[in-house]
Amino acid sequence: MPFPGYVLVFCGLFATFCSSLNLPGYALQANGRLFETEDGKRFFWQADTAWGLFHKFSLEDADRYLTDRASKKFNVILATALTQWGPKDKNRNGDLPLISQDPTRPNEPYWKHVDRIVEMAFQKRIRIAMVPAWGGTYFFSSSNKPGILNGTNVKEFGHWIGKRYPGLPKLLVADINPIWTNKSAVVDDYRNRRSKTHKMTDYSPVYDKLAEGLISGEVEAGIDQETTPAMITIHPTNQWFTPGPIAISSAFFDNRPWLTFDASQTGHTNYQPNPPMAWWNAEKPYEAIEAMYKNPKPRPLIDNEAHYENRYINGKNRDGKNTVWTAKDVRIGNMQSVFSGASGLTYGSDNVMQGYIPDVYKHDPSGPAVSVWSELSLAGAGQMQWIQKVITDRAAFYSRIPDQSVIIGDVGAGEEHITATRDSTGSFIMVYSPTGKPVTVETKSLSIGQVKASWYDPTNGTYSSFEYLTGGSSQRLFSPPKSTTHPDWVLILEVV
Ligand SMILES: *[C@@H]1O[C@H](CO)[C@@H](O)[C@H](O)[C@H]1NC(C)=O
Ligand SMILES: *[C@@H]1O[C@H](CO)[C@@H](O)[C@H](O)[C@H]1NC(C)=O
Ligand SMILES: *[C@@H]1O[C@H](CO)[C@@H](O)[C@H](O)[C@H]1NC(C)=O
Repeated sequence: MPFPGYVLVFCGLFATFCSSLNLPGYALQANGRLFETEDGKRFFWQADTAWGLFHKFSLEDADRYLTDRASKKFNVILATALTQWGPKDKNRNGDLPLISQDPTRPNEPYWKHVDRIVEMAFQKRIRIAMVPAWGGTYFFSSSNKPGILNGTNVKEFGHWIGKRYPGLPKLLVADINPIWTNKSAVVDDYRNRRSKTHKMTDYSPVYDKLAEGLISGEVEAGIDQETTPAMITIHPTNQWFTPGPIAISSAFFDNRPWLTFDASQTGHTNYQPNPPMAWWNAEKPYEAIEAMYKNPKPRPLIDNEAHYENRYINGKNRDGKNTVWTAKDVRIGNMQSVFSGASGLTYGSDNVMQGYIPDVYKHDPSGPAVSVWSELSLAGAGQMQWIQKVITDRAAFYSRIPDQSVIIGDVGAGEEHITATRDSTGSFIMVYSPTGKPVTVETKSLSIGQVKASWYDPTNGTYSSFEYLTGGSSQRLFSPPKSTTHPDWVLILEVV
């Protein structure tokens, strides 16, 4: 079915910028802990991260990038409207985002370019999850001075964004802590293992106003907030200081009606124990998912920034060895998160995330310098679709639950952690073994019937079935096949 193109809707006689991107069917909605499209089709969030997509990419680049991502079944791209490079930085076409750095005066050519990329993405079945404004640039500057967005103007800016881009999921805050003002002081305290010396300023009232503006803008664009509430979360920063809420959106904004989906950032680093969250660790992304899943308010939940492929482990080459996260690391982490109850996954690779186009932009040395265009074909980027596939190949999408009690014995930790998910109505059990070690499975939750058993290869999406004998104990030992290319396998038991 062809997707409709966008239509510019003009309203009001004297309105200068009174237009909305009208993309029928764009909005996502929540169904319990899962996403679905606004016409009620199930939706598995498979996101890539390209913060600089609107800013650093020409239309031709955007087409090349989005075509590649669509071919790998990505259906969401995280991108930033007012970017981390600030209001004085021109986009690839030479346009500034704002006139006179005034957040209430958008510079139309800049936003036309954003429009075209949003529309181009949707024609390729990809939705943009938009960061309206990068927190640590626009709410306060990197030198910790007040930014140009504040309680006075943020609602008007939010309204304008909500009205122009209705239906796009929005990520507020953007890799910063809403109650965090002086990053260097926080980091200083953390590194020196000192109790808190820094002062915190609570920016959450400003983000509340941003959300209020986004929603009123969507209403003006004609989106019924009763049937299709705006999808809004925050993109928290990593858990790299104490005290403070843990790095998940609901830890900050759980009581806000505008928080319609939950998100974590498990980040790129394995921190030393950092009480009270000793476990915050890039190799244990499933723990943040488990924490969100326990929330009695059922919202869709996502790890919005898990370790990026080809990024240095522990940040800017701190281990001195240039070791990077690999396809195996990101595959294991995302598979564990999804089996632990996430509504999808977020992938990122270091150079695509930052939009490193050699000879045009400088490289941020958080990983080796590799052109965006070569990095598109990293193995992990191609493997994320097999995580989506193993979930969406099962008809029982809405009744899937995480259930570790299916695994008998030690479930292990970090990259060895075994995760299990099953249909609460009994049609399947799936167990992901990242190490390929044999695993004992409690099968009694399966409904009565003939069971089809198979091993699923998470590096290429291939099933190989094996014989499953009925009768005997409900606890069964399964030994994954051996492969020279990868250790991990998914066991699938399904009633046919
Ligand atoms: C908010 O920011 C604008 C600049 O964008 C500035 O003119 C105004 O004084 C600020 N208001 C407050 C209350 O800080
Ligand atoms: C931020 O913290 C650093 C490190 O403690 C300190 O040197 C600096 O003065 C602080 N800046 C502001 C604006 O408070
Ligand atoms: C997938 O990988 C397995 C090895 O793990 C191999 O046997 C199989 O042929 C591959 N299938 C495809 C479709 O590439």
